[in-house]
Amino acid sequence: LAAGPLRGVKALVTSGPTFEPIDPVRFIGNRSSGKQGHAIASALARLGAEVTLVTGPVRLTDPAGVTTVHVETAREMLGACLGRLPVDVAVCAAAVADWTVSNASKEKRKKEAGAPPPAIELAPNPDILATLSESGGARPHLVVGFAAETERVLEHAGAKLERKGCDWIVANDVSPATGTFGGDFNTVHLITRAGTEPWPRASKADVAERLAWRIVDALGGHKGE
Ligand code: PMT
Repeated sequence: LAAGPLRGVKALVTSGPTFEPIDPVRFIGNRSSGKQGHAIASALARLGAEVTLVTGPVRLTDPAGVTTVHVETAREMLGACLGRLPVDVAVCAAAVADWTVSNASKEKRKKEAGAPPPAIELAPNPDILATLSESGGARPHLVVGFAAETERVLEHAGAKLERKGCDWIVANDVSPATGTFGGDFNTVHLITRAGTEPWPRASKADVAERLAWRIVDALGGHKGE
């Protein structure tokens, strides 16, 4: 077993985008690189936690000392997460697609001369963060979400904390000028039931490290089931 203040603690981290297929060659995705979620998984592992990282498709190498599970869709991500319970702490940093394509085609859609473009129909995806927050007896002791917003960041993030039933939300401004999506830096607020803390702009590695130490404080003596 690893040494460190999180020794004996089981952690689950989601990271990256999800890809929702339109057909075997096309998908709906988003700009998440996985840098923030992967950095959180690494930071928790360095502090001694037994970490499972469930990641959507990213161009990053799997972090050292972490069990990494690769998935593509939101449904696969939910299944992989539920399969790891019980855990002590869950951090949902993935940018999960809110919708899946309900009329995805098994064969490549063909472009036919004169035919109108095909209609893509969407259906809601399950919410992984809300599901983990509600998981009854298997609910992680601490559930942390992220909120990616482009306007009224704190207001929308606070509403997500309530709606999804998690314990903390890390709110970040992802409007294009910030370069948060895909970049190496992040400017966040940590929203807990006790209040809202602005954190200074920092590298994603430093945000991860700070969050990991906050998790150490929050878990206190809580280790395992
Ligand atoms: O990957 P990077 O390039 O490093 O960028 C980091 C990041 C911007 C992706 C990350 O810091 C971040 O903000 N992740 C959450 C992105 C997001 O999708 O936020 P949201 O506001 O749509 O979702 C709120 C929370 O619910 C998140 O914890 C999300 O993981 C979770 N969620 C959302 C939808 C869904 N179906 N299931 C979920 O679990």
